[in-house]
Amino acid sequence: MNESELRRLLADLSLEEKIGQMIQLPGYFQNAGNITGPANDMGFTQDDLRFAGSYLSIIGAEKLRQMQTEFMAQHPHHIPLLFMADIINGYRTVFPIPLAQACTFDPDLIEKSAVVAAREAAVSGLHVTFSPMADLVRDARWGRVMESAGEDPFLNGQVAAAMVRGYQGHDLREPGKIAACLKHFAGYGAPDGGRDYNTVELSERTLREDYLPAYQAAVRAGCELVMTSFNTLNRIPSAANEWLLREVLRREMGFEGMVISDWNALQELLAHGIAENPSEAAFVALRAGVDMDMVSPIYAKNLKELAEKGRIPMAWIDESVWHILRLKNRLGLFEHTFKDADEAAEKTVHLSEAHRRMARTCAEQSFVLLRNDEQLLPIRGDDSVFIGPYAESPLLNGAWSIFADDQDTVSLKAALRSRPKTHEVPVVPGCAMADPEHPVIGFQHPLPPEELDTEAALEEAVRLAKQAEKVILCLGEHRECSGEAASRGDLSLPRCQLRLLDTVAAVNPNIIVVLFTGRPLDIRPVSEKAKAILLCWLPGTEGGEAVLRTLLGENNPGGKLSMSFPYCTGQVPVYYNHLNTGRPWNAGILDGRFGSKYQDIPNEPLYPFGYGLSYTTFACSPVTLSGKRMTRSTSISATVSVTNTGSRTGTQTVQLYIRDLSGSVARPVRELKGFRRVTLEPGQCTPVTFTITEEMLRFVGLSMDTASECGDFDVFIGFDSRTDNRARFTLTE
Ligand code: NOJ
Repeated sequence: MNESELRRLLADLSLEEKIGQMIQLPGYFQNAGNITGPANDMGFTQDDLRFAGSYLSIIGAEKLRQMQTEFMAQHPHHIPLLFMADIINGYRTVFPIPLAQACTFDPDLIEKSAVVAAREAAVSGLHVTFSPMADLVRDARWGRVMESAGEDPFLNGQVAAAMVRGYQGHDLREPGKIAACLKHFAGYGAPDGGRDYNTVELSERTLREDYLPAYQAAVRAGCELVMTSFNTLNRIPSAANEWLLREVLRREMGFEGMVISDWNALQELLAHGIAENPSEAAFVALRAGVDMDMVSPIYAKNLKELAEKGRIPMAWIDESVWHILRLKNRLGLFEHTFKDADEAAEKTVHLSEAHRRMARTCAEQSFVLLRNDEQLLPIRGDDSVFIGPYAESPLLNGAWSIFADDQDTVSLKAALRSRPKTHEVPVVPGCAMADPEHPVIGFQHPLPPEELDTEAALEEAVRLAKQAEKVILCLGEHRECSGEAASRGDLSLPRCQLRLLDTVAAVNPNIIVVLFTGRPLDIRPVSEKAKAILLCWLPGTEGGEAVLRTLLGENNPGGKLSMSFPYCTGQVPVYYNHLNTGRPWNAGILDGRFGSKYQDIPNEPLYPFGYGLSYTTFACSPVTLSGKRMTRSTSISATVSVTNTGSRTGTQTVQLYIRDLSGSVARPVRELKGFRRVTLEPGQCTPVTFTITEEMLRFVGLSMDTASECGDFDVFIGFDSRTDNRARFTLTE
């Protein structure tokens, strides 16, 4: 349809039809046009369902084609439904969790993984994914860190934009493309105490400086939708925050697409105490600019009366419906109502060999080698025993992989058994995944209790550990321990796993821990007892194969932490780009009581942002600058040369950080401004040059404008956020 046809369609709709467009119903309401029990309970009527604009979490080419056909036949204007779902890190072929993908520091690879996810979802009839999540995170207690790209605004923005490009391509009508819904606007990643859905208090400067840039990057990349966050931001729930949605998102950031609330969030405006009754909730949400109400009955039950009484202008409704119709049109649904839904294609596209290969590559590049004393890794294979709950478990997908089947996942045990060299190696659980006193709470279903004879399992593990040269100890958090509504107050590993670690380490000094987790954990005991630690996050469908290839040295790990691993839970939030304080404390420099420090733990995380080793070693030369002064219209090149000083080919991510030494507001001790991945053969050396432009020096100053200020800057180039390889330059007028 062209724009004037679409305008005419909008003008032709009845008020009921318009309001219908603004409603999204959950898949469990089953068939369009049929009122079901849950719908009834929520107060929806047959009429509400007749005009609905969208459904979420319902999948499958056959089902969605049929639903679309029946729905459009009964709709007075035959407007197609939009089908949306959470395709977070893959659909049937599951990629590593986003926090792990960010560790690749490889936006092109992340874009390719989004291309695969979109293609698989599209053939199953989906039009929109609720991804990317660009929420900046600093507190590992928050379970949803797994879904973010970590603690750095720049990296977050790069990842979010890559995902948008991958899902959407250049034209949504093209086969295999779906629309991206950026979430959760705004500040959802900063809940008090790391508790999900909790209050968020951020100064406007911190919001603008640290939290908004990643959303902005996704908007610039052209994301079609934005989802509001559940939380209050400075005491206003986002779904009722007119300033946030109309002023910041639309006017300042230039977003022109559709805004959807999060699940039931309009109803929750009552619990937030921002609306006295449902009618008021509908009023404040529409005034704020929420176009579509996800799941709650607030718009369905209240907009009509508000409009008829003149409390809300028709223009508000028309504006929202326009955003929705325009998205349907951009997806080409008025001409191709099923878009890519294709049962035959589902069979060939899902889990295709090419998709699996891509998932494996992505997993391999996301692994972070945290430690490798005595070059214990890689292993030969037949020199090791594999112990731990994750040695066998196929639960390697992140919490959001709700459309994937665990039977499609290659566990580590399955990978071991598929090769002659490791076919026979012992693989035993050693202990349960979780402690009985802290049973894992399932996201979708209650989990069956683990059945294991604890003492016998431990004894067997010890017996095998005694006989082996090396022990591969596969530990970690159950996948349901991270994700939505999975906040934790203690970031330790389960006690049963720590006991296994202690007991096995007592009989074999060569412990290699392979760590599976959706969030940074307190791994002090692991760091003390293991000579090598390979962090594999939740690596997805090809996880077991990717882990094995890495342990055997067929893949050389090169991932870098996208989020600091705290020293302990009491240290969070902990992030590298913090302010300095007036009393910065560095061990040995400002001793005594009155530095900014803890009395019992260090200030530094156990493993910092940007950190990660390789099976080879690299050296970085001092930074050389093309000049010592730049103006707003010139730039400086900063160069290092990087050498592979080890004996294997490997990939290093060279990172550029900048510190503004003084400004009208306090500036972070350093901020990531660029990175470059280089793959070098043994002995190979390459120059790596970054161009420092004035734009990199901007920040939100005293007057809330984003601008640079003249003065001195330190530039750091190295292999992680702790590098002290630096040079100084000056920005002048
Ligand atoms: C709630 C979550 O916060 C959001 O991220 C998700 O997309 C929706 N539910 C839909 O499932």
